[in-house]
Amino acid sequence: MIDGLETKLPDVLAHFGIEGNLGKIFEGPLITEVEFQLSHGAKFSNVTKSIKDIARELGVSGIRVSEIPNSTYICFEIPQPKAQTIPFQSVTQSPEFVNATYALPICIGVNMRGLPIMRDLSKMPHLLVAGTTGSGKSVGLNSFILSLIHKLKPENLKFVLIDPKRIEFSMYNNQKYMLRPVITDMGTASQCLVDLCREMNDRYEKFEKTMVRNISEYHEKGYNLPYIVCVIDEFADLIMFDKTVEKQVLMLAQKARAAGIHLVIATQRPSVDVITGTIKANLPTRLSYKVASPADSMTILNTTGAEDLLGRGDSLLLEENGTLTRVLGAYMPNEEIMQTLEPYRCAIKEPTQSVEVHSSNSNVVINQTTINHTTVAKPGLFARFADWWQRLGKRNQNKIINWLFAFVVYVIHQMSGSGSSRRSSPTGTSSQKLLKKGIKKIVQK
Ligand SMILES: Nc1ncnc2c1ncn2[C@@H]1O[C@H](COP(=O)(O)OP(=O)(O)O)[C@@H](O)[C@H]1O
Ligand SMILES: [Mg+2]
Repeated sequence: MIDGLETKLPDVLAHFGIEGNLGKIFEGPLITEVEFQLSHGAKFSNVTKSIKDIARELGVSGIRVSEIPNSTYICFEIPQPKAQTIPFQSVTQSPEFVNATYALPICIGVNMRGLPIMRDLSKMPHLLVAGTTGSGKSVGLNSFILSLIHKLKPENLKFVLIDPKRIEFSMYNNQKYMLRPVITDMGTASQCLVDLCREMNDRYEKFEKTMVRNISEYHEKGYNLPYIVCVIDEFADLIMFDKTVEKQVLMLAQKARAAGIHLVIATQRPSVDVITGTIKANLPTRLSYKVASPADSMTILNTTGAEDLLGRGDSLLLEENGTLTRVLGAYMPNEEIMQTLEPYRCAIKEPTQSVEVHSSNSNVVINQTTINHTTVAKPGLFARFADWWQRLGKRNQNKIINWLFAFVVYVIHQMSGSGSSRRSSPTGTSSQKLLKKGIKKIVQK
């Protein structure tokens, strides 16, 4: 805490004509929370207007002020001179995490008083994450993945990890938890979302046959069906590459919860063309790390404030009921992540193993791996063609379609007009020239 804060703050506020009484002070790992009761007639808007100058007078940057709900106090959040780092282990060893009975417990971090914040991903039921580069998104995503790995066995949980940057998730390759290797190629990523939608529909058919409504009821009947968590670490890249992924994401966001398929989507650009209105409406739980502007904060949280966060895991969690909680993410260095994952490394690549499991004729085992391995793990001819087609991109696809079209027109013309062209009437020759010109134009496109 800043030395002498309890006397300095009321003094500084008085300089700006803000009178009132100091309330309780809580010292946390990232900030000191100071409660303050404004005197009668003092306006909260005057405080928010002067907050940058108040911060300057106190010699710190990034002070936030908010009203405490159902209270006459306001709360100043004043950064600590030196922020603490919260080790991931300290959260996973806490009684809150150890005793959590959630289906998919994820550790978001600690609140501003240092208490662990756990949530159940299966209830969220999906999570949208935003923040500028270096704000702590990837560290956060890793801590969500690792908290799930801490609590669930590989046969009960499978991950699909999409990582266009290629470096963030590479350590998860060849893990028993992986449904397929980490996806770094955008074409494969959009195909994989199509596969997940198909998997979701397959699961609903299974539920229908066993007369259950969701995955937990299915588990109660004695079947084992793994939860699938799909994590995308740069959704902006994916949606810019292929607009149609929005359709798949929406379908999964709307319907996949009961099938046990959950999405965690992160983006460094929370602009309206990436986080569209429909995506927002279907992903009510959102976590914002520091963003570049108040407009970005509005897009992700429906309120400003995330632009004033301090970075390095400092975040605001917006939940379905509208509550906003400031959370400091837990941190685990890469070497420790590798150590944690070591016991789950598989000698044989996971997809090959899954195909073998699939071919064994035990009912429960088949149910355990409902994932359509012909498309997800070992793609068939059509899936490979679709994948190749996706990777070509719109421009090359159009070129090929034009070539094919020109070829078909040429063949039809040859077959129907060859007789007349041999007679070489003047009209026939000119029409042939016209056709050739047309074909040339199409091909040049
Ligand atoms: N919760 C945290 N606690 C401490 N340091 C953090 C935390 N989160 C991120 N950092 C620091 O910030 C750096 C960038 O984080 P990263 O997750 O890679 O950002 P992003 O993915 O948003 O670009 C990390 O290398 C780490 O040093
Ligand atoms: Mg990152």
